[in-house]
Amino acid sequence: MKITFYGHSCFLVEAGGKRILFDPFISGNPLAHSVDVQSIHCDYILLSHGHVDHCADLETIAENNPGVRIVGIWEIHDRYSQKGFKTHPMNIGGWWTFDFGRVKMVNAVHSSSWPEGSYSGSPAGFVLDTADGVLYFAGDTALTMDMQLIPMTCPKLDLAILPVGSNFTMDYHDALIASDFIQCNRIIGCHFDTFGFLTIDHEAAKSTFASKNKELILMDILSTVSS
Ligand code: NI
Ligand code: MN
Repeated sequence: MKITFYGHSCFLVEAGGKRILFDPFISGNPLAHSVDVQSIHCDYILLSHGHVDHCADLETIAENNPGVRIVGIWEIHDRYSQKGFKTHPMNIGGWWTFDFGRVKMVNAVHSSSWPEGSYSGSPAGFVLDTADGVLYFAGDTALTMDMQLIPMTCPKLDLAILPVGSNFTMDYHDALIASDFIQCNRIIGCHFDTFGFLTIDHEAAKSTFASKNKELILMDILSTVSS
């Protein structure tokens, strides 16, 4: 499994022979000006919720990738299928087997609306179970007891992408507790630094994890991590 960071909560995951893009928000991110949205190639787009800092570049990327399938909760499927895109609807707690592996949609504690303000379904996270590894992408969420269900219902995680920026999501202290709940010691942080009120002290965050013999990876934009 190879993971490339495009800033904020946008990651490209290469696993099971496919390219899976999460939460495309790039052109509005002042930290991500080095990322060329037009050159992104993907087979799937998994969208955690409808907030603009997750879906802003989705339609551009989907138009550039005619075979792409958009995966999200029912209301996400509803919106994009009506616009003519290929979609796959899911809902919280369900599994579906795609050609790259299985996906479980899991709970997130957050809000969710489209940029124009209408309801976009519940926010969600995803667990990907692929031949190249098992990954949890939490989406925007608070620390929640439901995370304890993941190791009870999914194969052992190799990596997890958790928000760490506070204000809109959990902070890195809560993410450390989340890493216990999900029984995963290798965490990639997201949803930090993008806007002024998400700024974190990288060394303090990483040492907080290191003190518990866990790893917090704060990726540079366009850098990659392999599991
Ligand atoms: Ni959000
Ligand atoms: Mn967000």
